[in-house]
Amino acid sequence: MDNTPNAENIMQTFEAARQGQVFKYYQALDPTDQAALLAQAATIDLKEVENLVQEHVFGSGESSVPLDGLEPAPYEALPENGGDAAQWEAAREAGAAAIAAGRVAAFCVAGGQGTRLGYDGPKGTYPVTPVTQKTLCQVFAEKIARSSERFGAPIHWFILTSEINNAATVEAFEAADYFGLPKAQVHFIVQGLVPAVDLEGKIILSEKGRIAMTPDGHGGSLRALVRSGAVDTMRTLGIDTVSYFQVDNPIVQCIDPAFVGFHLLGESELSSKMVPKAYPLEKVGHFCVQGGRNIVVEYSDMPEAMQAATDADGELRFRAGSVAIHVFDREFIARSGGNHAENALPFHRANKKIPYLNADGAIVQPEGPNGVKFEMFVFDALPLAKNPVIIEAARSEDFSPVKNAEGVDSPETCADDQCRMFAAWLRAAGEVIETDATGLPAFQFEISPRFAADRADFLAQWLTIQKRPSICAGTVLE
Ligand code: UTP
Repeated sequence: MDNTPNAENIMQTFEAARQGQVFKYYQALDPTDQAALLAQAATIDLKEVENLVQEHVFGSGESSVPLDGLEPAPYEALPENGGDAAQWEAAREAGAAAIAAGRVAAFCVAGGQGTRLGYDGPKGTYPVTPVTQKTLCQVFAEKIARSSERFGAPIHWFILTSEINNAATVEAFEAADYFGLPKAQVHFIVQGLVPAVDLEGKIILSEKGRIAMTPDGHGGSLRALVRSGAVDTMRTLGIDTVSYFQVDNPIVQCIDPAFVGFHLLGESELSSKMVPKAYPLEKVGHFCVQGGRNIVVEYSDMPEAMQAATDADGELRFRAGSVAIHVFDREFIARSGGNHAENALPFHRANKKIPYLNADGAIVQPEGPNGVKFEMFVFDALPLAKNPVIIEAARSEDFSPVKNAEGVDSPETCADDQCRMFAAWLRAAGEVIETDATGLPAFQFEISPRFAADRADFLAQWLTIQKRPSICAGTVLE
């Protein structure tokens, strides 16, 4: 049977949509490249592209967020910051029971391109731990394995990749024998791609036989979970609660019983962790309430005076920073990732430098932004959710992303933050570890996620050791 998409039909559809330039070099391609271009073109939803172009390239685009009636979103403070310790304990117990019942899955979004890090490979394969240089995926796999052991139940792991990095990600798991996890409990979900367009709304070719396409954003994870059948798989497995985190953050608590418990006890459809902003103009999204709905307002959409405003206690009024850690109700994913326009997440426009073909058909690396990429953001699901819950997280125990090759949020700052966290755990257990004023120990060492997945786990595990090792440079607690 000939599976080649009908060339003429596809080309005519593109012509009719005023995107015929995609086939400009078609006749000059060899048959394999022609087939590949047609197959790529066949995946494009031209109606969606037309709507995006009209709205974001020709139209007024995104209206700025109206600031009327914007209030800080309430959140559950940590006990050490005034929260109710009994409530945290009740949440921890409820979450632990749900995990033990096999109701909770981990979900890591790893479909991004990681351009800022400039690493040639899926970000999940980037080495991050200070001593043994475990990769991000290995760290998460070991945390999930440890949580599974701790709560006595299988924990399925759903991983969002894109067509660009799926094969390399799966290969890394295969090569490492799934880092000891049962293969049947690891599920790869390939997210959709959207074509990039130039400033006239024309789809860009990155090569003569290749359309420039980029993943549809972390917000695309919800429709990818639905379209791939992962939501159905979750139903079959009895999973109703999904713990969402990003691939670039190795200190995240992949499976946090207290967070899961607050989500379930609050009958929430979508829960979020906040960290208090480190300083007034920190470049994070702010959790806010408007018209009775929770929203995230990006720093770029909030006037500086508002970002820096303080309340009666002298604390930042809008202090709840978003760190992209959530718990989703499965049926909420089914609804917001499904085909109902009223629940669809909006696309946003990002101006990017996109390599393109010039009039002579040569590939050009542009100096400045020459095109537009479309992405959905996961936090746009927040206003659609019933009973959203926000809890406070300690930044030092949950958030240190690897975004840039150097400077802030880089491999170096992340390795230091891991060492600070390990030192803090040991000190909480009564050990003496010398650190500087920022909590950074004088030497690097590591606590394996196989030993403990979080602080509470560490404190319990440490007590069980008969002969405790002395901690020095290069120590790895396994
Ligand atoms: P970022 O916004 O940091 O983007 O993604 P990125 O693509 O990883 O990196 P840059 O901006 O090109 O440097 C935050 C998280 O969302 C995931 C990323 O993999 C990361 O875990 N993501 C992002 C997706 O899964 N899909 C996307 O389309 C975009």
